[in-house]
Amino acid sequence: MSAATGTGRLAGRAAIITGAASGIGLASARLFAAEGARVLAVDLPGSRLTEAFAGTGTATLGLSVADTDAPERIVEAALAALGGIDILFNNAGVASAIPVADLADEEWDRVVDINLRAAFRVTRAAIPHLVASSCGRVINTASVMAQGTDYGLAAYCAAKAGLEGLTRTLALELGKHGVTANCILPGAIRTGMTGGLWDARPDIAAVWAKKSVLRRLGEPDDIARAALFLAGDDSGFVTGQSLAVDGGLRLRI
Ligand SMILES: NC(=O)c1ccc[n+]([C@@H]2O[C@H](COP(=O)([O-])OP(=O)(O)OC[C@H]3O[C@@H](n4cnc5c(N)ncnc54)[C@H](O)[C@@H]3O)[C@@H](O)[C@H]2O)c1
Repeated sequence: MSAATGTGRLAGRAAIITGAASGIGLASARLFAAEGARVLAVDLPGSRLTEAFAGTGTATLGLSVADTDAPERIVEAALAALGGIDILFNNAGVASAIPVADLADEEWDRVVDINLRAAFRVTRAAIPHLVASSCGRVINTASVMAQGTDYGLAAYCAAKAGLEGLTRTLALELGKHGVTANCILPGAIRTGMTGGLWDARPDIAAVWAKKSVLRRLGEPDDIARAALFLAGDDSGFVTGQSLAVDGGLRLRI
């Protein structure tokens, strides 16, 4: 069932969502727009961004969040298309599974740049506008792997754990301006990142589903609904937190 039901919970808010052409970002962009937000959806050039939002009124911007000029371009596009920034959802991410012994510097840098450094740089550029908002929100998509691990996940785990540290510090520094900053820790969610493998290896999908105490894989809408909570008024006194949305996965690992 789609989460995009719409009761105006983000009416009048301006939201940037990165990694919005697929999976969690796409579901969140649709839900935020259905709840009344003006949305700037950001994803790689060549992603399905344009098709995903054609005719919807959602603004789009194709770039890599790791580009040197990405923060300025994202903020400029948000101001032009949305007129301000109330919500910044740093969600773009890439996975990587290479054992430390074989992990090249370039792969470490690629994973950390996209998952962590870009979130820092885009947030830094957005801070004056978030502070000017009466309801500023930063939401970062980390992972249950920020607090756990698996073979080959050193760069990914380090980046996602770093995102939690960044989020706590943002919460501390921006709290006096009424801006909250929180992380979401998704569990095993069926998206572009995981779907291909799980379609090819249903046995692996079944293992992840069984690890959840709810005995199912997560869907992008499960995370979008948590993001909506963190983006809206219901979470006004919640900051510096990591919200696991994992079907209880971590209770069993
Ligand atoms: N799917 C899961 O099980 C899971 C679990 C924990 C955390 N996450 C995190 O959720 C976030 C969203 O991933 P998803 O699962 O929806 O996967 P996804 O692959 O469906 O979506 C990720 C999106 O990010 C975009 N992206 C990648 N690199 C980018 C870049 N440099 N610049 C701009 N956009 C870029 C991709 O094009 C894609 O559209 C990621 O940060 C991921 O690490 C996912």
